Amino acid sequence: MTDRYCVIGNPIGHSKSPRIHALFAKQTGQDLSYEAILVPSDGFAEAIRAFIAAKGGPARGANVTVPFKEEAFRLATRRTARAEAAGAVNTLSFDAGTIVGDNTDGAGLVRDLKHNLGCDPAGRRILLLGAGGAARGVILPLLLENPTELVIANRTEETAARLALEFSRLPGCAVAVKPDGTGFGRLAGRAFDLVINATSAGLSNAVLPLPTSVFAPRCVAYEMVYGRETAFMVQARDAGARVGDGLGMLVEQAAEAFFVWRGVRPQTAPVLSALKGNP
Ligand code: ATR
Repeated sequence: MTDRYCVIGNPIGHSKSPRIHALFAKQTGQDLSYEAILVPSDGFAEAIRAFIAAKGGPARGANVTVPFKEEAFRLATRRTARAEAAGAVNTLSFDAGTIVGDNTDGAGLVRDLKHNLGCDPAGRRILLLGAGGAARGVILPLLLENPTELVIANRTEETAARLALEFSRLPGCAVAVKPDGTGFGRLAGRAFDLVINATSAGLSNAVLPLPTSVFAPRCVAYEMVYGRETAFMVQARDAGARVGDGLGMLVEQAAEAFFVWRGVRPQTAPVLSALKGNP
C-alpha cells in the first residue's frame, strides 16, 4: 500500500510542493503519493480528518500552508520544540491517532543560507525585516546558529519589540544572543552582513523604507518570496548585496519535511535546478 501525503492551503493551485516531493520520492526510491488539496477557509480540520479517513494507502502526513499554519498548530496533539517556538505548524505526521505538528521553515532557511548560498549565519550581524508569522518561524533557528547580532525591524515597531522580548527569554535553549526589536526609522547608519526580508511587502511590490547603510560590504540579502523580482531585491542589489530568493527555502523546508516523514534526506540541488530550469 502506497503511503499518502498532501499539501493543504488556500490558494493551492500554484503550489510546487507536489512536484518537489515527487522528485524527492523518485530520487530516494520511496513509495508514496503526494497531492495538493484546496480547502475553504473554515474547512481545515475537516479536510485533515477526511484525508486521514480516505480510502487507499495509509495517510502518513500533510504539509500545511497559508492560511492554515496556526490552525494546524492547534490541531496537533503533540508538537516539536521548533513548532512551539514558531507558533505555527507546516508539517503534520499521522501515527495511530496522534497528530504530530512540526515546523521545518526555519531549518529550510538556515540550510538554504548555509548550503546553497554559502552564507553561514554564525558570527554575522543579522537584520530580520518583519514581525509576522514568517519572521517568527525563523527566529529560533537563526539564533541557534550563533549570529553576533539579530535585529528584528518592523513597520509597526511595537510588534518587533514584543517579538524580540519573547525570544529573549528562552529557558533551556543554548542561545547567546538576545534579539533586539526596532522600527525601520531607527536603522539609519546601522550595517548588517545578512538582511532577511520576512515581510509580505514583496507580494504587493511595496518598497521598504530601508537606509542603504543596512547592506554592509559583502552583505547577503535574502527575500523569502520567490518567483518574482521584488522591490527589496532591487534595493539590495543596487546597494551591492548578493541576493537570494525563497525558492531554495521552499525546497529545503520540503526536504526537511521529507526527512521527518521518511527518515531519508533527499538531495536538494538537482530539485532546485529542475525548478529553476522549468519553473
Ligand atoms: P506573514 O505570515 O507572511 O508573516 P503577516 O503575519 O500578516 O504575514 O505579517 C506580515 C508582515 O509584513 C508584518 O511584519 C507587516 O508589518 P506590520 O506588522 O507593520 O503590519 C509586514 N508588511 C506587510 N506589508 C508591508 C509593507 N507594505 N511595508 C512594510 N511592512 C509590511
